[in-house]
Amino acid sequence: MIKSSSLFVAVVIFFLAATSVASASQPSVYRVTDYGARADPKTDSTSALSDAWRKACSDPRPSVVYVPHGRFHVRNLGFEGPCRSKDILVRIDGTLVAPSDYSVIGNAKNWILFHDVDGVRISGGILDGQGTGLWSCKLDGRKDCPTGAMNLHIANSKNVEIDGLTSINSQKFHIAVTGCQNVNLRDITVAALGTSPNTDGIHIEKSTLVSVLNSTISTGDDCISMGPGARNVWIERVACGPGHGISIGSLGWKFQEPGVQNVTVKRVHFTLHRDD
Ligand SMILES: *[C@@H]1O[C@H](CO)[C@@H](O)[C@H](O)[C@H]1NC(C)=O
Ligand SMILES: *[C@@H]1O[C@H](CO)[C@@H](O)[C@H](O)[C@H]1NC(C)=O
Repeated sequence: MIKSSSLFVAVVIFFLAATSVASASQPSVYRVTDYGARADPKTDSTSALSDAWRKACSDPRPSVVYVPHGRFHVRNLGFEGPCRSKDILVRIDGTLVAPSDYSVIGNAKNWILFHDVDGVRISGGILDGQGTGLWSCKLDGRKDCPTGAMNLHIANSKNVEIDGLTSINSQKFHIAVTGCQNVNLRDITVAALGTSPNTDGIHIEKSTLVSVLNSTISTGDDCISMGPGARNVWIERVACGPGHGISIGSLGWKFQEPGVQNVTVKRVHFTLHRDD
């Protein structure tokens, strides 16, 4: 009797110790579906994603914002920092879909914005900006088309990793990195029609230590473009086409602007098309 109860106590103590070790090393996981996100076209999951992000951002421990499989419809979405921990993973297994009416997000500069974050990894997922309607508006030469939003904009941030992400049908630039330090993009796929206007794949401006590795970019404008203040940029193993190549440009609009410095481009495969 005594023997078995002390064994029981020992087992309980062992379990308590094991779970407390596990909870100390495991990150907190904020599943967007626990905040009301639903993978169906009738549910607007914008506030669910914002709520999950706010929880992760105010958590002092490492945390994960998790978007499961399925198509989640979201309007303009801001992931604002600064956050309490420098270890937040935004793991996307599904697709984020912009509204089919392009004017809903098209008057803002960004569809999905990460601003003022430090120590964030964005991994996986598909971003579908549903930009085809806006491209037709622009190609038809209509005067009332909105400028269009970028699918993903990382602004004023540092230590950001983006890997395994696919961006399709962006209204404007697919991914922009501005005002940042140490942003590494890996295994990125950008796909838009060769006729999509002003849809640069990845745009880098006023940022230092940016790398783009092992990525495939097909779009209607530059695959990668660098503007004022792009410094210490490394581009390697990128397939570009259709697209207008890798460019350094739009410089000199302002009298005093930061220059472009130290850009390395290695092992890039350009595909030419008849209309290029
Ligand atoms: C490059 O990307 C491809 C496809 O995204 C992936 O399968 C492969 O593992 C990556 N290679 C390296 C060296 O990261
Ligand atoms: C040039 O940029 C690379 C990263 O792309 C960096 O490792 C290197 O130190 C930079 N060189 C100088 C002289 O700043």
